[in-house]
Amino acid sequence: MFLSPLLFLIPLTAGQSLSPTGTFPILVNSTSTLTLAVAPVCGSLDSVNFTEVNAGIKLSAIRTIVTFGDSWTSTGSNGTVPLPPILHPPLPSAGAANSENRRATNGFMWSERLAADLNAKLLDYSWGGAVIDNFAYNTTSPLNKTGVPRSDFVSQAGLFFLQGRFLDALVPSQTLYTVAFGINDDGQFKIAGGDIDLAYNTYVTKLGELQALGAKNILIHGMYESHPETDALQSRIFAYLATARATNGTNVAFVNLENLFSTIAAQPAEFGYAGNATCLVSANTIVGGCADPDTSVFYIPGHPSMMTHGLINDYTQAVVAECGLS
Ligand SMILES: *[C@@H]1O[C@H](CO)[C@@H](O)[C@H](O)[C@H]1NC(C)=O
Ligand SMILES: *[C@@H]1O[C@H](CO)[C@@H](O)[C@H](O)[C@H]1NC(C)=O
Ligand SMILES: *[C@@H]1O[C@H](CO)[C@@H](O)[C@H](O)[C@H]1NC(C)=O
Ligand SMILES: *[C@@H]1O[C@H](CO)[C@@H](O)[C@H](O)[C@H]1NC(C)=O
Ligand SMILES: *[C@@H]1O[C@H](CO)[C@@H](O)[C@H](O)[C@H]1NC(C)=O
Ligand SMILES: *[C@@H]1O[C@H](CO)[C@@H](O)[C@H](O)[C@H]1NC(C)=O
Ligand SMILES: *[C@@H]1O[C@H](CO)[C@@H](O)[C@H](O)[C@H]1NC(C)=O
Repeated sequence: MFLSPLLFLIPLTAGQSLSPTGTFPILVNSTSTLTLAVAPVCGSLDSVNFTEVNAGIKLSAIRTIVTFGDSWTSTGSNGTVPLPPILHPPLPSAGAANSENRRATNGFMWSERLAADLNAKLLDYSWGGAVIDNFAYNTTSPLNKTGVPRSDFVSQAGLFFLQGRFLDALVPSQTLYTVAFGINDDGQFKIAGGDIDLAYNTYVTKLGELQALGAKNILIHGMYESHPETDALQSRIFAYLATARATNGTNVAFVNLENLFSTIAAQPAEFGYAGNATCLVSANTIVGGCADPDTSVFYIPGHPSMMTHGLINDYTQAVVAECGLS
């Protein structure tokens, strides 16, 4: 077991690292009982399609991580201090007992493990169900065909632009921005069509605004070739950021989680998985669920288990380390 301090509020003895602000007290249990039995498939920044590359990001320099995305990233904190990942049965998700401020898994998220590994502060703006732009579809709030209010990149970036600079110095060379959208956009395209150009324009507008405010390190979590309706969108974002690299010198990295998850699906035992691929029978309760979430790929249906989040962190770091351009 390895408990890694993200930041401390408690006095430290000599030799321990001290965070600059002490405002985000989190202890992360980084224990892993699984093995990363897959290697990245590295490509080039010239690729026509989304591919795995790291152009310039050095994780060792990172002291702050800012995350945008959906339930695969959200700690439920919405820009505030994440609640401890405590389970409140029969609620299936770790965090608060009485609000939506919880994780769609049974423990720490990949981003919390990454922050712990780097001894970095985590500012998390991601939220379950998020899409790129509510106005790109006729199925999301405020257009509200299905009446499901959703978070989007617009609102997440808006909150960050409002308060992020009060939470951290956001030193450009020491701040990593991670962005992960697509799974829920795919759903919207399926349900009632949507405007892929509007979604694209919003996505790159927000990436441009982040750069205008100093973002120098942008990492994209993609799901290329598993959600076909968003493949073209993801390749266009890839091309945009390749241009951002060329014109602005922005360091960019692309991680294709589909490579991780398709390999897990093909050979789960090699990673250490056993038994049920998905632990819980529904997103609403642990009743009827498996006894061994640590060896399940997914905990809540469609949502990685805490241990799989450990692999997402490991895989993300593997892409950054192994797919670096010389
Ligand atoms: C850390 O996680 C491991 C694996 O789930 C678990 O066995 C261990 O009890 C946890 N440690 C703490 C202090 O919660
Ligand atoms: C890009 O993806 C499209 C659609 O999947 C495929 O037809 C095409 O061959 C790919 N191009 C390259 C250069 O891999
Ligand atoms: C996140 O916080 C902002 C500002 O308080 C709020 O407007 C927004 O509704 C919150 N989002 C969620 C999903 O709770
Ligand atoms: C949005 O959806 C909810 C739930 O279906 C419904 O109650 C509400 O009237 C809708 N609002 C609008 C403006 O259509
Ligand atoms: C939503 O978009 C789909 C696809 O473009 C279209 O068929 C449908 O009529 C639209 N619905 C509304 C309410 O605009
Ligand atoms: C370059 O950075 C500026 C902000 O300084 C931004 O507006 C623009 O979109 C960026 N260009 C690209 C191609 O990302
Ligand atoms: C786990 O797998 C067993 C054997 O296939 C099955 O009987 C059980 O219903 C599954 N449990 C869940 C929670 O899916």
